[in-house]
Amino acid sequence: MMTKPVILTGIRANNDLHLGNYAGAMLPMVDMAGKQAGDYQFNFFVPDLHSFTTPIDHDSLYGQTLATVRMYAAAGLPMDHGDVHVYRQSRVPAHSELTWILSCFTYFGEMSRMTQFKDKSQKTGGDNASVGLFAYPILMAADILLYGAEYVPVGDDQTQHLEFTRDIADRMNNQFGQLFTLPKPVKEQHQFFGTEQGLRIRNLIDPTRKMDKSDETGKGVIFLSDPPETARKKITGATTDSLGEIGYDYSRRPGISNLLDLLWLFGGDPEEFKGATQYGPLKQAVGEKVADFLADFQSRLEQTDDETIKNVLADSEAAADETARQRLHQVQQAVGLRDN
Ligand code: TYM
Repeated sequence: MMTKPVILTGIRANNDLHLGNYAGAMLPMVDMAGKQAGDYQFNFFVPDLHSFTTPIDHDSLYGQTLATVRMYAAAGLPMDHGDVHVYRQSRVPAHSELTWILSCFTYFGEMSRMTQFKDKSQKTGGDNASVGLFAYPILMAADILLYGAEYVPVGDDQTQHLEFTRDIADRMNNQFGQLFTLPKPVKEQHQFFGTEQGLRIRNLIDPTRKMDKSDETGKGVIFLSDPPETARKKITGATTDSLGEIGYDYSRRPGISNLLDLLWLFGGDPEEFKGATQYGPLKQAVGEKVADFLADFQSRLEQTDDETIKNVLADSEAAADETARQRLHQVQQAVGLRDN
């Protein structure tokens, strides 16, 4: 399982997946698997242990985990390809064990500086935020380092966690010898996936915010389960500006830049619209591309079945366990837990 360079990513199951998740993590993975299958190994896993860093409905977690895998199948990840592995984090115990070891080399201050922790802990009540939420970038680092993953397609909200993964790997390597492969620097990751910067799909109504599911009205976020017509309407209602000529400017014109990004991601050509003064045709083009994508995606989703998914998971989990166990063994030796 370890010979080819590894491209790896994870999407939490309890996330009501939306276009931001699709663009930041699913599309780059599926795209590369389509173009480069054979050259790389693709690990897609569901970080189910990450799912309850904040309170959730535990009764629905198991079903949501399978549903997330089905979404990847619908997005076009070739599940039956020998280089594609799809597994649940909780089924590979080495993730949790390596996390403990890494956490003893992680600084309290380092975790305290994570912006996602600061944001989310504020929302979940300050001091009552869980220790799991605080420490979760360490689990994320273990997810990546166990498989020696070099490329990790994520949205820009995860950049800090990726940088931490490089830091902790480097720290361990300095102290204990060459234990871990470092994921590529963030800039190289962007080049590899063909973007100028980390992807951040914006909320359609308030484009200064990223698109995420915590949108009270639901008008600013397009869920992968939205009927195509609903998505089209949401795009028609997207906030733009009154600056005239269409062009990219993420700081002054986040709404228009977001629409251009969406057009590009879903197969349109932003060049056709640059310099135009009417925003209507751009919105219409984005709406059509997104609606077409959703219609295809949803019909493929209906064709997936849990039986196939469970078989894929069982095979991949056995393979992932083998690889992860070997890496953990080396770490245990290095830190003095084993003599051979
Ligand atoms: P999660 O589940 O919150 O989000 C899944 C992926 O979606 C990306 N994303 C976005 N990308 C662009 N624009 C947006 N508006 C947007 N919203 C979300 C996220 O950046 C992410 O890539 N910690 C991770 C899961 C994880 C992981 C890992 C990822 C755990 N271990 C190891 C990679 C490698 C998370 O909570 O993502």
